Amino acid sequence: MKVTVVGAGAVGASCAEYIAIKDFASEVVLLDIKEGYAEGKAMDLMQTASLNGFDTKITGITNDYSKTANSDVCVITSGIPRKPGMTREELIGINAGIVKTVSSNLIEFSPETIIIVVSNPMDTMAYLVHKSTSLPKNKIIGMGGALDSARFKYRLAEALQGPISDVDGMVIGGHSDTGMIPLTRLATRNGVPVSEFLSAERLNEVLEATKVGGATLTKLLGTSAWYAPGAAVSAMVQAIACDTKKVFPCSALLEGEYGFNDICLGVPVVLGKNGIEEIVKITLNDAEKATMQESAKGVKAVNDLL
Ligand code: NAI
Repeated sequence: MKVTVVGAGAVGASCAEYIAIKDFASEVVLLDIKEGYAEGKAMDLMQTASLNGFDTKITGITNDYSKTANSDVCVITSGIPRKPGMTREELIGINAGIVKTVSSNLIEFSPETIIIVVSNPMDTMAYLVHKSTSLPKNKIIGMGGALDSARFKYRLAEALQGPISDVDGMVIGGHSDTGMIPLTRLATRNGVPVSEFLSAERLNEVLEATKVGGATLTKLLGTSAWYAPGAAVSAMVQAIACDTKKVFPCSALLEGEYGFNDICLGVPVVLGKNGIEEIVKITLNDAEKATMQESAKGVKAVNDLL
């Protein structure tokens, strides 16, 4: 399994590190436009191999896409991150150009690849890759829900004052502060609905904290987060590489599913060797359906800026 990660910045390097530590890929190529940057990150990471016990070979390259040839999976993290007070949508001007060029360069050398889009505004960037390339829809996957769900579980465990491993929950919808939908109704602690343990008011606090999870970190860090985004991408790459058929909420092109068309939106999908193996249909109640409509409206408004 060869994985290319474009953008050797905070998220790209973190993603490469987690992929290497899990040791399921033979090769990770880190590519960046900044001269020497990916080479430096790759060398630093390779010098952790004997300490962390992995055999994955990590190489760094400056903008030479021929070295990415025949990648099974390509991850696009190139672009600018938001600063405190900014929304993800404000990044569209710069990131759309970058994502379009990068995806076309990647496909030139890896026509069969699966692309995971991370750059923000992610749902719109995933949609742009669909519109500007001829890759089939199962091979273009946006990463947002996997991260937002991890943040949701963190907040749920905090409220329950128990271990995160006891908690399950999913965030669907658009990857934005206003668009994401933490499904509190379906969240569980060891299979029991969390509403058995938490008041409606406390659950609402969890929901709100989840929605601003990225913004909270951006304020603390001065830039957007990288550990959890990197871990979320690596978990998705692993599901594809190892054909695990695990379910992750991902931004997928919808053609009628959940009542939407011509939009990339966060829905649960089965990930395996073909990328998106299946879009999972969960039954939403009327309130959740209405929130999903609003979320889709927000994503479409950003798509219209392309
Ligand atoms: P960063 O600034 O640390 O890294 C971005 C890297 O992309 C830089 O090293 C830059 O040199 C490189 N780059 C820029 N243009 C390029 C090009 N044309 N070709 C190759 N490399 C290029 O930013 P960070 O924090 O890694 O974030 C990357 C992106 O991921 C941002 O758009 C951010 O908003 C997004 N993000 C998305 C998340 C999600 O859940 N979907 C979570 C976290 C970040």
